[in-house]
Amino acid sequence: MERRFWTFSGGDGPTRESRRESEGASPELFVDVHCHCLPGLDDGPEDQSGALALCEALAADRIATVVATPHQLGRYDGRCRAPQVRRAVAQLNRCLQEAHVPLTVVPGADVRLDERIVDLLQSDGILTVGDNGRYLMLELPHEIFVDPSVLMAALAQSGVGAVVTHPERHSFLARDPQHVRQWASCGVALQITAASFLGEFGWHSERAAWDFLHERLPVLVATDAHDTVHRPPRMTEAYNLLVHHLGGRAADILCVENPRRLLAGQDLLRLGDEAL
Ligand SMILES: [Fe+2]
Repeated sequence: MERRFWTFSGGDGPTRESRRESEGASPELFVDVHCHCLPGLDDGPEDQSGALALCEALAADRIATVVATPHQLGRYDGRCRAPQVRRAVAQLNRCLQEAHVPLTVVPGADVRLDERIVDLLQSDGILTVGDNGRYLMLELPHEIFVDPSVLMAALAQSGVGAVVTHPERHSFLARDPQHVRQWASCGVALQITAASFLGEFGWHSERAAWDFLHERLPVLVATDAHDTVHRPPRMTEAYNLLVHHLGGRAADILCVENPRRLLAGQDLLRLGDEAL
């Protein structure tokens, strides 16, 4: 498979990059902004012990903070309401403290595209990343492509940035990654799944994951983990691969800095910006 990689020369410089690659990358702790870790709410863990096992795997993957993002709307319409998610997050944090798992969970959601989203945000029906009102994780329908431009513009008008979850696993966008360019004016960001860089979702998604890095939209990496067997977190492996191909500074932007900024409600960085 042909890959086009960024040649990224900002930040630490080639000498330190080479040393980092040969020694094995040792990133700071990650923030994972997309994970289905709450028990019994969606297609994540069925119960508290499954949730605890997933959280232990997240901590072992060097993740210090995870945004719990159960599915909202779509086939989960009417379930996983915002107050229910907040309660589940508080309960899971108590469980983690008792089990001495070094992980903090904050509320969020993986929200399926829906014409009611702006209204539901105002009525506390759906959740933003970290419950901070700044970014919304937006999941497009998998079966067909529905143009989200109108919704993205409406969200931007109300001060909310859309983060399109796993565009590399959407067949229409994977075939035509350049399609996302039209969303840049709405402050849209792209969230790529860590395992996609490792080929876990097939070569179409793998190729698209790398291709999206060439677009002039902010990109960040998250696990979208659901369990410890079929959909485990693979952040550290993806980070190491990104360091190998792009260099440490770009990998840090994708896996460390942009996820932290997203959770803090700050502006995101774009790969290749000359100011970096
Ligand atoms: Fe998800």
